[in-house]
Amino acid sequence: MNFSGANVLITGGAGFIGSNLARTLVHMQANVTLVDSFIPEYGGNLENIADIRDKITLNIADVRDQHAMRYLVQGKDFLFNLAGQTSHMDSMTDPFTDLEINSRAQLFILESCRLHNPGIRIVFAGTRQIYGKPDYLPVDEKHALRPVDINGINKLAGEWYHLLYNTVYGIRSTILRLTNTYGPCMRIKDARQTFVGIWIRRLLEGQPFEVWGGEQLRDFTYVDDCVTALLLAAQAPQACGKVYNIGGDKVVSLKELADILIAVHGSGNYLLKEFPAERKKIDIGDYYSQDELIRKELGWAPQVPLEQGLATTLNYYTRHLKAYL
Ligand SMILES: NC(=O)c1ccc[n+]([C@@H]2O[C@H](COP(=O)([O-])OP(=O)(O)OC[C@H]3O[C@@H](n4cnc5c(N)ncnc54)[C@H](O)[C@@H]3O)[C@@H](O)[C@H]2O)c1
Repeated sequence: MNFSGANVLITGGAGFIGSNLARTLVHMQANVTLVDSFIPEYGGNLENIADIRDKITLNIADVRDQHAMRYLVQGKDFLFNLAGQTSHMDSMTDPFTDLEINSRAQLFILESCRLHNPGIRIVFAGTRQIYGKPDYLPVDEKHALRPVDINGINKLAGEWYHLLYNTVYGIRSTILRLTNTYGPCMRIKDARQTFVGIWIRRLLEGQPFEVWGGEQLRDFTYVDDCVTALLLAAQAPQACGKVYNIGGDKVVSLKELADILIAVHGSGNYLLKEFPAERKKIDIGDYYSQDELIRKELGWAPQVPLEQGLATTLNYYTRHLKAYL
């Protein structure tokens, strides 16, 4: 992959996946611009980009600001479109903010590209949440789309705007439907971004963490593997207009994940709890991805085993805990 000298814009670039992507692109000698709103409830954190702060351009702006986005997309070769409201529960209690960011702003961004930079290449971070409760496992890209929460509906609209602009206006876009992604720079303050975050926080604070249900099956992608998939998708001409699932290196139950995390850390414990009623209504049950398509077409495969990824993640937060609380 060659991004040397490329002008790259990452929306949500100070967030978990965005900052890891930015770091890799800086090492590849790309000219990297980040746009992030740093809304406190979301994953943007200056600590995520502290080591590359002088090698990137940071725009503190909101993707809902049409004027900012119109300006920012100009002159860019690549757009990694990762900004999003990621909390499923928040999308239910504040549906209009989710709509504005995950759906309406996506249309602004695409319109800005159509009017001011139609040659840009886009990769959009979609989510497995849009499949809803699986009819079968593993879930492939042909599975019915039946979101179970507001966030899923708006993320679905966001990805379909990209596909439409690809087909109708030739704005080359690829969708990656991510599964649970974990690693350094994720939000661990609470469970807004991922439950793995709050598990790690509690573990490092010497407190038991809560496992709800425990039997649900999930796959987990280490963030470096996710970054590789984003970069591969951006440079593959055959990926334009396509949707790819991203999976993990193995499937585990939440209870197994908790046991692995504690084994890797060397100590800790958890409490098995009933799923809270308001969460149960929007839970998708077992899920894991069929990601054969991206393996076959783009040569992607997860490289980081779960145990290794968790060890690296724990190590990172042991050193940086304060900046994430
Ligand atoms: N992490 C996962 O497991 C996962 C799974 C599926 C999909 N995704 C998708 O990947 C993308 C990145 O997620 P992440 O896990 O890095 O979460 P994150 O919250 O760390 O990253 C999102 C970033 O977008 C920024 N942002 C939010 N609203 C914004 C706005 N209005 N204007 C500008 N910036 C804004 C946030 O500040 C944050 O830095 C999201 O679109 C998310 O839906 C993530």
